[in-house]
Amino acid sequence: MTTENIAVTLIRGDGIGPEIIDCTLAVLDALGVAFNWDVQQAGMEAVKEGGDPLPAATIDSIRRTKLALKGPLTTPVGGGYRSVNVSLRKEFKLFANVRPARSLFRGGRFEDVDLILIRENTEGFYVGVEHFIPIDDDPKAVAEGSGIITRSGCRRIAHFAFEYALRHGRKKVTIVHKANILKALTGLFLETALDIGRQYEGRLRIDERIVDNTAMQLVINPNQFDMLLTTNMFGDILSDEIAGLVGGLGVAPGANIGTDTALFEGVHGSAPDIAGQGIANPTAIMLAAAMMLDHLGIIAPAIRLRQAIQTVLDKEGIRTRDLGGQASSGEYTRAVIRQIEVLPDHTA
Ligand code: NAI
Ligand code: MG
Repeated sequence: MTTENIAVTLIRGDGIGPEIIDCTLAVLDALGVAFNWDVQQAGMEAVKEGGDPLPAATIDSIRRTKLALKGPLTTPVGGGYRSVNVSLRKEFKLFANVRPARSLFRGGRFEDVDLILIRENTEGFYVGVEHFIPIDDDPKAVAEGSGIITRSGCRRIAHFAFEYALRHGRKKVTIVHKANILKALTGLFLETALDIGRQYEGRLRIDERIVDNTAMQLVINPNQFDMLLTTNMFGDILSDEIAGLVGGLGVAPGANIGTDTALFEGVHGSAPDIAGQGIANPTAIMLAAAMMLDHLGIIAPAIRLRQAIQTVLDKEGIRTRDLGGQASSGEYTRAVIRQIEVLPDHTA
């Protein structure tokens, strides 16, 4: 396998980012998958270095490689710079956010969850059209924000989701919306997705559900769902929820896919509460790397990596603290590497 020629932009990220990216690189090494990493900066680290949270060099690199593996990036709350994650998705038109949640070990809240959430990644309430309106001496007397949803954006993500479902042998896609209240904004999303869905009649079951009910149903009985298709903000919230069904953010990967560029990361953020302690769970980024391997058609090592992770978490019970275990990030990573070494190499 000659992956050495494949250039990938690597952003280590903030907080726990550098620790869990190092763990992931060690695991890829053990798999014998060597990429030509182009290490670039973004987020807080980039601000410290050059004052810009998304330097031109980083954008240029991704424009060249069209592939990125990224640790989490801190976004200041309230004021400060705009989310670099949102900027990257916008810059590279990464319109589809694929967030799977799959049970990896027994003894959790649920044992047989296997869900895929597809989130529209560039429109809705995250377009950043918002402002304050001052009244008298209060500069923030009123806050006003708009969501923007386009029919072409809805068509694009609906096609993506339904094609993804067919490619991955999925049976049902549930469109999640709030069209009873946000009649224009998420009504257009629902209408367009149902419309595109008609082209898939006989091949996929497509239904729809209101977001608040979906949130509750997911907790009661997640297995009534197969794939979820939803707008940007609902997808952000529900993807953390489905991560919680299978152990939490430490095991939830995500792919941001555009027409020519793809960026892989964890669903989680920079976890400042545990950064620098060597206890973060690197599984989410490892699984994001597995999604990158799938995306590149490097299938056997991706299968091997997932098997190794599952064996360590389930059979060996070696887990980091977020999953109720005692292992450090390093101990867990070494256990995954041991499994990779004993598992058969499907490429051999
Ligand atoms: P967070 O996801 O960083 O943390 C939430 C909770 O989950 C914390 O208790 C944390 O310790 C835990 N956690 C998260 N990932 C973990 C891991 N791999 N192993 C063990 N425990 C883990 O969310 P929070 O605290 O709301 O955000 C922190 C920062 O991250 C903010 O600046 C936010 O904007 C940013 N963020 C960045 C994202 C990205 O880069 N894609 C996504 C989400 C948030
Ligand atoms: Mg989120």
